[in-house]
Amino acid sequence: MANIGVIAGDGVGPEVIREALAVLEAVEGGGRHQIISFDLGGERYLRTGEVLPDSELEALRRCDAILLGAVGDPRVPPGVLEKGLLLRLRFAFHQYINLRPVRLYPGVTTPISGKGPEDVDLVVVRENNEDLYVGAGGFTRKGTPEEVAIQTSINTRAGVERCLRFAFDLARTRGKARPFRGLGAEDHRLGRIGQVTMVAKTNVLTFAHDLWMRAFNEVATDYPTVKTEYQHVDACCMRLVVNPERFDVIATTNMFGDIITDLGAVLQGGMGLAASANLNPTRASPSMFEPVHGSAPDIAGLGIANPVAAILSVAMLLDHLGSADRGDLIREAVGRVLAATGPKTPDLGGNAGTAEVGRAVLDALDALGKASRSHTGRGEGQESNENQV
Ligand code: NAD
Ligand code: IPM
Ligand code: MN
Repeated sequence: MANIGVIAGDGVGPEVIREALAVLEAVEGGGRHQIISFDLGGERYLRTGEVLPDSELEALRRCDAILLGAVGDPRVPPGVLEKGLLLRLRFAFHQYINLRPVRLYPGVTTPISGKGPEDVDLVVVRENNEDLYVGAGGFTRKGTPEEVAIQTSINTRAGVERCLRFAFDLARTRGKARPFRGLGAEDHRLGRIGQVTMVAKTNVLTFAHDLWMRAFNEVATDYPTVKTEYQHVDACCMRLVVNPERFDVIATTNMFGDIITDLGAVLQGGMGLAASANLNPTRASPSMFEPVHGSAPDIAGLGIANPVAAILSVAMLLDHLGSADRGDLIREAVGRVLAATGPKTPDLGGNAGTAEVGRAVLDALDALGKASRSHTGRGEGQESNENQV
């Protein structure tokens, strides 16, 4: 039985996690998993002063996977929860890949005019343990006119290389399932099936991103079927909007990956739809699954947050646990709800609430007639189960 640690967290987190857990229950049925809830986040911090006690970190370490809603509370200074809880978990459990699919479902409106589901189907592989996120830095002369603040970007050869290898593996796996549609005749002749675009800023960050570039060129030689491309992050933002179909797999740094995946969320219909996985591909400690969005304080408590991002994060959790068939089932059910004239939350132009959309996904699962009762799951092979994105 899989133990799933759940941190519903702050703001809309508990609202969307409620629906996500109902979907997990529907596809898994009783007996396949056990939910272990952790009371962590703003409320706990304001009540006790605790962000993530070591005992709870260790209890989370014993879980097979973690599902997280969102952290961040306007009553708590910025960074306390984000760094103390979310980033601490990503680092402590060596979740060095942040996998963020950008996929436009049929029926969902993208703000990019003239583009459809065929054009928006890419995956961002965001390095998740290094860069500006490590918290290296400090102040001198704080509070004086001569104040200096330093925040250092850490880039290790090993950390960069494992991220790039993951991206190449993913491009190859995706290409085997379906060759990347953006390849040309010459690429086909060369036997290419996928593409990795490395996104950085080599023209300015001439130390850190020089390392990235050299690692990229070297790793690429091991993947002859994957086309390589490099883009500066500023141009990448522009091209994501103008020509999203140019992208297959994007490999990028922690900071740039954070930024371009909010842009990616919008390409696929909004923050309410974007799912993500913080992966430890070695499986030495648990991976963590969460929507790309935050606690959305502006709509928290109104019951109108879109639960789809959290539900699709459950699908990624199941992929990781070797149940990609059930992950697919969830994606299919979500696809039906998004395509039909079914209930939509206000972010998608509807007037339904969170629970109503969650219910619609459960109904779609029922209609698919494959919920847990009739489903045995394939439960084999761990190594290729990240390929559903
Ligand atoms: P946000 O993602 O919470 O919200 C941005 C906008 O998207 C808001 O207008 C919000 O209403 C909308 N939105 C987000 N999720 C939605 C959903 N499920 N359905 C419909 N609309 C949705 O970003 P923010 O406002 O910059 O940050 C709020 C807090 O969340 C901050 O404290 C921030 O640090 C934190 N945060 C946490 C995470 C995380 O836990 N992974 C991610 C991003 C931000
Ligand atoms: C995200 C969030 C986090 C990040 C914050 C809350 C630490 O924005 O998951 O995208 O920057 O990674
Ligand atoms: Mn972010």
